[in-house]
Amino acid sequence: MVTIEYEGDKAKVYSDAGRGETFAEVLARRISRRNLLKTSAATTALVLAAPSRATPGNAATQDATPTVKLGFEAIEGSTADEIVVAAGHSALPFLKWGDPIFADAPDFDLENQTAESQAKQFGYNCDWLAFLPLPIGSDASDNGLLVANHEFTNPELMFPGYLTANPEFKPPQSDDAPPDVPEFLVNPTQNIVDVELEAHGLSVVKIKRGEDGQWTVVRDSQYNRRVTATTPMTLSGPAAGSDLMKTSDDPDGMNVLGTLNNCAGGITPWGTVVSGEENFQQYFANLGQLAEDDPVRLAHDRFGVSEGASERQWENFYDRFDLTKEPNEPFRFGWGVEFDPYDPESKPKKRTALGRNKHEGHTSFVAPGGQVAIYSGDDERFEYAYKFVTTGTYDPDNRDANMDLLDEGTLHVAKFNDDGSGEWLPLVYGEGELTEANGFASQADVLINTRFAADALGATKMDRPEDFETNPVTGKVYLVCTNNSRRTLDETTKANPRPENLHGHIIEITEDGNDHAATSFTWEMFLLAGDPSQGSTYYGGFATDEVSPISAPDNLTFDLDGNIWISTDGNQLAINDGLFAAPTEGEERGYVRQFFSSVPGAEVSGPIFTPDNSSLFVSVQHPGEGGTFEESESHWPDGGNNPPKPTVVVIQAVDSTARVGISR
Ligand code: FEO
Ligand code: CA
Ligand code: CA
Ligand code: CA
Repeated sequence: MVTIEYEGDKAKVYSDAGRGETFAEVLARRISRRNLLKTSAATTALVLAAPSRATPGNAATQDATPTVKLGFEAIEGSTADEIVVAAGHSALPFLKWGDPIFADAPDFDLENQTAESQAKQFGYNCDWLAFLPLPIGSDASDNGLLVANHEFTNPELMFPGYLTANPEFKPPQSDDAPPDVPEFLVNPTQNIVDVELEAHGLSVVKIKRGEDGQWTVVRDSQYNRRVTATTPMTLSGPAAGSDLMKTSDDPDGMNVLGTLNNCAGGITPWGTVVSGEENFQQYFANLGQLAEDDPVRLAHDRFGVSEGASERQWENFYDRFDLTKEPNEPFRFGWGVEFDPYDPESKPKKRTALGRNKHEGHTSFVAPGGQVAIYSGDDERFEYAYKFVTTGTYDPDNRDANMDLLDEGTLHVAKFNDDGSGEWLPLVYGEGELTEANGFASQADVLINTRFAADALGATKMDRPEDFETNPVTGKVYLVCTNNSRRTLDETTKANPRPENLHGHIIEITEDGNDHAATSFTWEMFLLAGDPSQGSTYYGGFATDEVSPISAPDNLTFDLDGNIWISTDGNQLAINDGLFAAPTEGEERGYVRQFFSSVPGAEVSGPIFTPDNSSLFVSVQHPGEGGTFEESESHWPDGGNNPPKPTVVVIQAVDSTARVGISR
């Protein structure tokens, strides 16, 4: 376990592996191990070509024999407007914003975008990705469905003239003083807003790899689908139909138009998608018009809904985004949305049993008793990490029987104790503090106001919990905390140990008995990100000059050997965001290496391997962010004067059938 001491407000990291050892001593010990490894590297690579697997419940220890080594040579951080990947691999832009994904879809036409064309093209800001093999149930790695979340739009990069300088703007007198009026004015039109609505949501696209190793989109596939901010969907589970869900268009509180801000997601063991609605608050306007003591106002305020106009001003075109007209509409967002990508007719369902917050993750794992655990983070400073456990059990032989498993179960919130233990606190109406005396009149109330319920239970406030994923090889669970610049020294806990946490960290959780339905766990720090030369980082004890500096870890995936792959969003190291990998077990645990770099303004998200790990898909989201259509730091991937385009990149080894990232 890693422990922290403080000198003034500076954190100093120690390793518990040798109590009393200073961090420098831990480093020295790890360096000598590392040198030993180096001398036997050639032999190791040969021996390790055959993958070895630990079984859940039998997780390897720090000193166990290492599994397959990550065999790539780390790249340096980059600031260039081009993607970079480790030697021996190719990284190709594969699916870009505006690419047609139906046989009858029009080609992208920058000057003449319409909602109708966007609804048949790949959406904006690709984020989380899934690869679902075809046929269903197979482990095909050359034929499948690529599912992408489209988190949000950057209209200032999508539409010429969207942003104009505000003639009334005067620079503020000091850095602390907010400007009186915004520097830029936004110019949404009905057409722009309608395109934006269709650029949100998700895409499902059939893709195929040819004999030549090249991936292509199968445009005439029956599976291809767009789910957008206008797609009809239903509410299901305990909060469906409750009074807070009712609007003038939906007096029953059961039917919602669309999904918004789909950030991270997960697939279920039965092959459906659960997509997380994250920063939904930004689409709603005029909170300040509700009465100050209105509980509806307090609930929306917790999410930061704007007091006045929203950023995008959709409320000028659609009443449902205006709280003076539809105060309940935001309650219908902030959920996990499940649908079946193998059935293009399936109607998405917002699964209220999973609670309402700024959802991330939703990776699932089947517990020994057959219940399904779904992990998710609530990505905001000082918010919580959650686990939902189904009441029913997964039936691997009857897909239909699993289709509504997510409507019944127990949502838990994590409490991380300073002694390395932890508890999953159940968010159940009538239990503990979740009673009428504290403002909860039903389970629907608990789920709609999940954050208030978690407050009442005394859960641990985290540093922006984002992806939260089980390592399929070891069964350990990894929670990524992206950063939290606002945490003060007084607010530090062992699980969020750094004040002004600019760079983020990753916590490793072991469920008691390796049972993902358990209500208690142990945890330890896996990574304290940041500039390794600063002394307040932890890279498994590896020396400063041996690791690749990582900052703002965000999304995770695991390869066949349980190595962790980490993408970053908003790193504070003056390099472009990227994708990094590290072993989780053995001598090289925590040995972080950079594998891929994106372009200016972009985050990297949604890394996912094909089942045989021969292809790796990754999203380069919001390239050029911070600029405008007229002036952008990025023109990737089309170059020239083209606007930047959020794009899914496919990465393969030079031998396209070989595993990505592994030397042979
Ligand atoms: Fe959309 Fe939490 O990142
Ligand atoms: Ca994200
Ligand atoms: Ca993930
Ligand atoms: Ca993020």
